[in-house]
Amino acid sequence: MIVLVVGSGAREHALVRALRRDPGVNGVYVAPGNAGIALEARVCAVDPLDGDAVASLAESLGADLVVIGPEAPLVAGVADAVRARGIACFGPSADAARLEGSKAFAKEVMAAAGVPTARPAVCTTLAEVQAALDDLGAPYVVKDDGLAAGKGVVVTDDRVAAIDHARACLDAGSSVVVEEYLDGPEVSLFAVTDGVTVVPLRPAQDFKRVGDGDTGPNTGGMGAYSPLPWAPDDLVDETMRTVLQPTVDEMRRRGTPFAGLLYAGLALTSKGLRVVEFNARFGDPETQVVLARLDSSLFDLLLAAANGTLADLPPLQWSDDAAVCVVIAAEGYPESPVTGSVITGLAEADALEGVDVLHAGTQAEGEEIVASGGRVLSVVGRGHSLSAARAAAYAGVALIDLPGAHHRSDIAARVDAAASVE
Ligand code: AMP
Ligand code: GLY
Repeated sequence: MIVLVVGSGAREHALVRALRRDPGVNGVYVAPGNAGIALEARVCAVDPLDGDAVASLAESLGADLVVIGPEAPLVAGVADAVRARGIACFGPSADAARLEGSKAFAKEVMAAAGVPTARPAVCTTLAEVQAALDDLGAPYVVKDDGLAAGKGVVVTDDRVAAIDHARACLDAGSSVVVEEYLDGPEVSLFAVTDGVTVVPLRPAQDFKRVGDGDTGPNTGGMGAYSPLPWAPDDLVDETMRTVLQPTVDEMRRRGTPFAGLLYAGLALTSKGLRVVEFNARFGDPETQVVLARLDSSLFDLLLAAANGTLADLPPLQWSDDAAVCVVIAAEGYPESPVTGSVITGLAEADALEGVDVLHAGTQAEGEEIVASGGRVLSVVGRGHSLSAARAAAYAGVALIDLPGAHHRSDIAARVDAAASVE
């Protein structure tokens, strides 16, 4: 079987490694990939946003399945272009990807499906924003309606900062969603769906803020771990019943079935489970830890979703291992990442037992690998417990040198400490 993966991050690197574990998969191609992916799959210099180019590449490779990683190609209709050529594609249509592409649309679907979420106000003027801030009160949550790579959201007690963010979004031509603040820990739960049947994966937790102790601005994600020993036992069942299945059913009812990966960002609030956001694709860096624990064939799962045969798939098998991912970010990330610095120690870290070094913003320059983006690497540790997985991940991080780079030192630390005193 031949698979074409679209994207260039550590999420795609994790997808490539999981696909390559499958004996039935004998060719993995990636467009455009990165320097690390190029060491283990064939990379193709094709624009991931160009649907015709991706579909033509898939045709020329004889791909049995195309897997689209990031949201931007999905929102741009690349999955539609691939399917139009009769090629199986894992990823929702442009119409269905609006669940991620427009926060206002996602809120409308949730309201229609009775899915619990923060009460929103969609605003197109500053006067509406001010009224919504007064109505909902502090802490203020102000979101750009469109795609913003995890950086379009401001959560603050400072009314001036809330208004400034809203003004910047409105000036850029977006509408703004102001919504109720959700307290409580966040969980990411992914589900694979063919538009009818929904198969949940295992919950993970992401660390969105740049600094230790959840300080500093929001990022695309600085680390993740799974399992979540503190999560309620019925979390997956409850999310299936109250969030995932009703949303998939509502999308089908509207004539825009959602087939692909539905990512539910959840808050476990004092008033119960609430959806913070939907994404239409695997999360990054949660995918790195979730796939590290999947024993079943990823290829069979994604192909069944693409072909509408998920109901026939045997139950997924999961490893008892834990996984922890630590993101190494370039100097200046998230505001203004510095690129071009040489990275060393990659092979040594990847060779450690239980450690996977997955590349995101990397590029080859001659014999060297240099940083080319904000989030540069994901170092994933696996072990029989969260502490073992955490130790493995940080042992890998310690072997890697990138001048000026930073990472969080507290990924899974609190839960790890709590587990060890229990
Ligand atoms: P989003 O892009 O909607 O996922 O938001 C990014 C991050 O902002 C979330 O993961 C939360 O940490 C935070 N956030 C978003 N919405 C809310 C909310 N209603 N209440 C509290 N925090 C939020
Ligand atoms: N980890 C957050 C995201 O993928 O959107």
